[in-house]
Amino acid sequence: MTHAHLTPKVSTVEAIKYLRALVGESFVLTGALDLKTWGTDWTKVYEPKPLCIVLPQNTAEVSKIMAYCHENELAVTPSGGRTGLCAGAVASEGEVVMSLSRMCKILDVDSTGLTITTEAGVTTQALQEAAKYIGLFFPLDLASKGSCHIGGNIATNAGGVKLIKYGGTREQVLGLEVVLANGDILDMNVGLRKNNSGYDLKHLFIGSEGTLGIVTKAVLRLMPKPRNLQLAIMAVDVFEKIPKILTECSLAAVSVTAFEFFTQVAHKIVLARLPGARTPFAASSPFYVLLEIEQPGSEPEMETLLEKLFDQGLISDATIAANSTQFKEFWGLRENITESLAAHGQVRKNDISLAIDQLDPFVKELEKLLTKMSSSATNGPASDAMELVLFGHIGDGNLHINYVSPKERNPKEFQVAARTIEEQIFKLLTKFKGSISAEHGIGLTKKKDLHFTRTAQEVSWMRQTKRLWDPKGILNPGKIFDV
Ligand code: FAD
Ligand code: MLT
Ligand code: ZN
Repeated sequence: MTHAHLTPKVSTVEAIKYLRALVGESFVLTGALDLKTWGTDWTKVYEPKPLCIVLPQNTAEVSKIMAYCHENELAVTPSGGRTGLCAGAVASEGEVVMSLSRMCKILDVDSTGLTITTEAGVTTQALQEAAKYIGLFFPLDLASKGSCHIGGNIATNAGGVKLIKYGGTREQVLGLEVVLANGDILDMNVGLRKNNSGYDLKHLFIGSEGTLGIVTKAVLRLMPKPRNLQLAIMAVDVFEKIPKILTECSLAAVSVTAFEFFTQVAHKIVLARLPGARTPFAASSPFYVLLEIEQPGSEPEMETLLEKLFDQGLISDATIAANSTQFKEFWGLRENITESLAAHGQVRKNDISLAIDQLDPFVKELEKLLTKMSSSATNGPASDAMELVLFGHIGDGNLHINYVSPKERNPKEFQVAARTIEEQIFKLLTKFKGSISAEHGIGLTKKKDLHFTRTAQEVSWMRQTKRLWDPKGILNPGKIFDV
């Protein structure tokens, strides 16, 4: 089995024999459990059916594997920490899964130039720790940081919880080494801060979801660590106040390092599913905002800001984390939403984005749409119930809409029901000029929806770009769009 446009020139047995001779017997996996585990990501919707899993240990091996697969028309799916949320790392059509897990060395940390040079299989958390070890800071931060790889972050252009202050993955990348479909190694900028000599090709690969090349190394920005972070959770009664709170933060000139939100439903599910989780509030509220600021001076900026927000009627309650334990607890209430939802039921995910001033009008129309849809739906059994759970990086205009049904519900029926609502929401989103993906990417799950956000002309240029870099179409075929 393979992709229709490819005609493999070697049998599976021959391919595995060649790859084993190249990287070593134990670094080509073919056992049923290995294929199942490594052939998928967090989505678990598509059935994994890879040809094999290959684990190279350096760029030279990646290059030889690609040259062989190119020559023999074998599809390759690059694989990082497999925490992706749109089936980008899924191999369901006989692909060779190329995992960068063994390429996990941090190569250099430069505290003068403020850069870190790393292989692609290093986890985001390991980069954070390496920076911290020498008194610096690597700002990319997401709840999956212990598992996801920097190669995967770059391939998805991951966003995370600190984008509001430091930018996303793209903003951290100074240089990249990429292995192309034909095995050529492309070295793009050793890490210069400034380099205006022609096209900056590395940006093509950031967010390309493994369809244009295999990221093998990166040079990333480091920065001085933030001083005296303060964290508060605020209770908010209506959504329209949330963008107003954000405006007040800007007007007060506080340095916002995170501005996250979640609904009452999201909060309840975390409290029910996360062992030891506690709410800081006596009464529940429809919305919560987690605000982190840097407070380098002696002024109690957070207290002053919260008082102002109370006086203006924008928040109904608030608590500031009093110590490092509470700091972690408060962050835990936000960062554990994804895992708590997964434990709670079947989940389908959206990660839409809108201009900040469009958030409130969009949510108002969304509420109307959902009321209309639920009144036209027939009353089914409780196991068919569908909850919409909203949370996300609201300070970046990024709203995560999750469709959640009980685990007992028939999975196919659940997907159909969630899709019906999702399509309506995407149509609404077009009206507000939003995007169907703020940070997770397109992968397989959203490729039929690309047209909601990108014009036919844009997709045509994407196709031409793909054909130029990967003329045989062996790199992660079928992801983002069909060529
Ligand atoms: P994988 O899932 O293995 O792969 C993702 C894509 O990248 C695939 O298309 C794959 O083919 C490609 N790829 C992987 N490695 C390479 C490489 N070396 N070269 C070329 N292509 C490659 N995402 C956010 O943006 N923000 C969040 O806040 C966030 N929070 C999360 C929280 C949880 C609990 C979970 C489970 C996921 C979260 N994610 C978030 C999604 C996910 O963690 C990110 O998309 C992450 O960047 C994926 O990295 P990975 O190494 O796991 O990649
Ligand atoms: C998050 O913000 O927590 C992540 O993007 C994961 C998710 O959307 O579930
Ligand atoms: Zn997110």
